[in-house]
This record gives sequence, C-alpha cells and structure tokens, in this order.
Amino acid sequence: MHEAIAANPWVSLAYLISGVLFILALRGLSSPASSRRGNNFGIVGMGIAVVTTLLTHFNATIVEIVIAIAIGAGIGLVTARKIAMTAMPQLVAAFHSLVGLAAVLVAAAAYLNPQAFGIADAAGQILAVSRIEMGLGVAIGAITFSGSVIAFLKLNGNMSGKPITLPARHVINLGTLAAILGLIAYFLTDQSPWVFWTVTALSFLIGFLLIIPIGGADMPVVVSMLNSYSGWAAAAMGFTLHNTAMIITGALVGSSGAILSYIMCRAMNRSFISVIAGGFGGDSAGGAAAAATDRPWKRGSSEDAAFLMSQAEQVIIVPGYGMAVAQAQHALREMGDKLKEHGVTVKYAIHPVAGRMPGHMNVLLAEANVPYDDVFELEDINSEFARSDVAFVIGANDVTNPAAKTDKSSPIYGMPILDVEKAKTVLFVKRSMGGVGYAGVDNDVFYRDNTMMLLADAKKMVEEIVKSLD
Ligand code: TAP
Repeated sequence: MHEAIAANPWVSLAYLISGVLFILALRGLSSPASSRRGNNFGIVGMGIAVVTTLLTHFNATIVEIVIAIAIGAGIGLVTARKIAMTAMPQLVAAFHSLVGLAAVLVAAAAYLNPQAFGIADAAGQILAVSRIEMGLGVAIGAITFSGSVIAFLKLNGNMSGKPITLPARHVINLGTLAAILGLIAYFLTDQSPWVFWTVTALSFLIGFLLIIPIGGADMPVVVSMLNSYSGWAAAAMGFTLHNTAMIITGALVGSSGAILSYIMCRAMNRSFISVIAGGFGGDSAGGAAAAATDRPWKRGSSEDAAFLMSQAEQVIIVPGYGMAVAQAQHALREMGDKLKEHGVTVKYAIHPVAGRMPGHMNVLLAEANVPYDDVFELEDINSEFARSDVAFVIGANDVTNPAAKTDKSSPIYGMPILDVEKAKTVLFVKRSMGGVGYAGVDNDVFYRDNTMMLLADAKKMVEEIVKSLD
C-alpha cells in the first residue's frame, strides 16, 4: 500500500505544494514585516499535507482520526492560550520532546511489524535501507526526547540550571555515540531485538548526558539545537512512513534549526561543534554571585529620567526579559513617540538572546507597533552607545554585563554584550538591587558613576516617565 501511495502522482503533487508553502513560510518568518504572511503559508501547507495524508492512509477509521485530532488540537489550543510568553522556551522544549518520542514510537512500531509498513522482504526480513532509516530515526528521536525533557526541567526551574559535569564526560559521550553508530551498522546484519532496543536505550542515555552539563545561560542555544534534532527525527520518521511531506518538513526544521543554532552560537561566542558534542561552557558555575547591594549606587526618579532623556540628542533603548514580564512594550512605544516629539532620536538595541527566546524582543516591539526602522541588531548599533546621551535599559541585565568581556569565571564569559556603559548616562529599570538576571550574576554597570537606577516595575516606571514628559 505504501509503495502505491508514494507512487500516486496526485499525492506527490500535493506534498510538493505543501513543501513549497513551507519554504515560503520560512522565508516570510525571516522578517517581522512578512511573518504573518509566512505563518499563513505554513498553515495552508500543513492543511494540505494533513488532508492528503488522511485521504490516502486507511489504517484508522475516520472516527478514530477525528477523536485523535480533537484531543491533540484541544490540548494545543488550551496550552497556547494559557502559556505566558516568558514560558515559551520550556513549552518549545516540551513540544520537541514529543516529536522525539513520536519518532521512537514510529520506529518501534515499524520494527515490531515491518510488513504493515511495507518495509519487509518476502522472508519477513526488514529491508537494509529501512534498517538504517529505522536505526537513525530511533537514535535521533530518543536523543531529542531525553535531551528536551532535561532542557524543559532546567528551563522550568524543576531542576537546577547549574551545569552537572561528570568526570571524563567527553570520553563517556564519545564512547556512547560510537557504540550507537556501531550498533546501527551491526543492525544491518542482525535484526535481533537486543540490537534495536540497545540502540534505543543508549540514545535515551546520550540525550540526557549531552544536556545535563549545560549551564542556564547557554540554554537558548540548546533549545534551538534540539529544535534541529526534532526536525531530523521527523525526517527519519518520514522515511519509515514513506511520507514525502514529513521528509521535506523534517529536513526544513532540521536545517533551519541548525542554522539558527549556528547564528546563536555566534551571538553567544560559543563553538558550534562543542554545542553538538555537549557540555560547552560547563566548567563555569552558573548563578555564581548574587547582587552585592553594599556597593554605592545612585537612585533616580521618573522625573529625573524624563528630564535627562528629553534633553538628549539620541536615546538608545535596550529591552530585556523584565520588559516582557512587565508587558511594558506599549508604554515604551508611547515613551519613544513622546521623546521624538521633543526632537530626540530614539533607537532600540536588540541583543540576540535578550528575553527568553529567539526574537522575543522583536515580537514584543512589533506587537506595540515600534517602527522596524528604529530597531537595530547588536552589531549594527553597538558602536553608537559611545555617541549617545542616554542608554535606557529596561528589564535587561545579562546582555549588558561587561563581566562577559573581562571575568573568565563568569557563566556569561565570551558572550558579546551591548556596550551600554559607554553612553553618557545609563538608566537602568529593574525592580530591586537584589534581583539578578538569568545567569544569576551581579552587574558592575549598576555601580558606575554614569548610571542611575530606576527601581520599579518596568511598565509603571515607563508610564510615569510618559506622564513627566507631558
Ligand atoms: P536577564 O539578564 O534575565 O535580566 C532580567 C532583568 O529584568 C533583571 O535585572 C530583573 O531584575 C528585571 N526584571 C524582571 N522583572 C521585571 C519587571 N517586572 N520590571 C522591571 N524589571 C524586571 O534578561 P536579559 O538581559 O534579557 O538577558 C537574557 C538572559 O536570558 C541571558 O542570560 C540569556 O542567555 C538567557 N536566555 C535567553 C534565551 C533567549 S533565546 N533569548 C532563552 C533562555 C535564556 P529585578 O528582578 O530586580 O526586577
């Protein structure tokens, strides 16, 4: 049956169209201006793929399919409505784990009943090429599953974000990976259950081993790497199920996830190879020093901030996680508009890992209708801080911390930062001197002579500044 479906030209055409729509979706998602259009292409592409699959695969009754879709869609809908934007990374990690688990289950089902999947010869032996697909599918799926579960637990705070480093972990990891690849090769000559299940068990183990040594500050890169793995797991499933749409979609997710990981590695100054190998940055202790409140620092008010900014020629706004928590983006846009009315040039500086997910700040600023032309990436704006009168840091911390440049023991050492301290005045909005950022380290800029701390909830503080500007 599978061969017949794969050979049906209408099915191939429908899958090809959905594949093209997925590519257009990715293209659209590459810019905030076209992202809605990209999303719509993706929805239509997925609709075509699902309908085609339902019309051509007769293994379940329509009632069973509708019940399964209703349960899945219901859970997805409730989760999407309830989830806070700030909890998005752990949600993404949880979804990746499901893709990994699905790949393992498909591979196991195909292994246990190869005839039903059309991958057995007349003697009931699994075809050689299917053994490779199955071995790789179960391995990537299991790694994605256990790795994503650990990432979820760390991001959700159920497990310490600190790196857990085993002695000789690189040797253990390489040995386990070599054993998995060796067993997949051996699977070609011997399809005994012990080979299949040992590959599965070792892959669950290596997923766990690869993620536990990774510290909290490096989690963003891990999430995008697991995104890539989940794509390859789906592609492997597509081969087992003879489903072209799944192969295309899996390959697109796999390669775009890999490209995103590479970009994030560059943003965080991490080596791409060591991310794949696991345990990068693991030797520095995450969450080391808490804020040292006994050092002298200057406190300012909303009136001080409004006065300083209204007198400035250029203000650079640096949003971070705290802006997302406070949902201060609309008030912030209003503040930007008021400053422009005072003749001030206003720019927004976005660090690639500000917030808790890739593009977090861009999404929020776009939602508040901040003009795209006012929003700049780190490399395009960093040199401008030295020429700016005010850097207005709102709910950002780690992405401005100069310890990343100077302190080798810091968990964020090596990450490029926004050079806010070079501006004539730095205004820092946060709730208290005791609160630290994601990496859990103190920030020297709070105590500099040219810094003024504006201690309050970000939204409240910005609303008060807007009033003072009036
Ligand atoms: P953080 O370093 O996490 O700092 C957040 C700041 O916001 C803190 O100073 C906090 O201080 C303040 N804050 C929290 N709630 C606030 C509120 N309601 N009003 C005002 N201030 C508030 O943020 P960042 O600079 O954006 O850095 C991001 C960090 O997250 C990096 O370490 C990055 O590696 C990590 N990370 C990023 C991602 C991605 S992909 N973007 C994913 C996971 C992790 P108070 O508590 O004193 O208010």
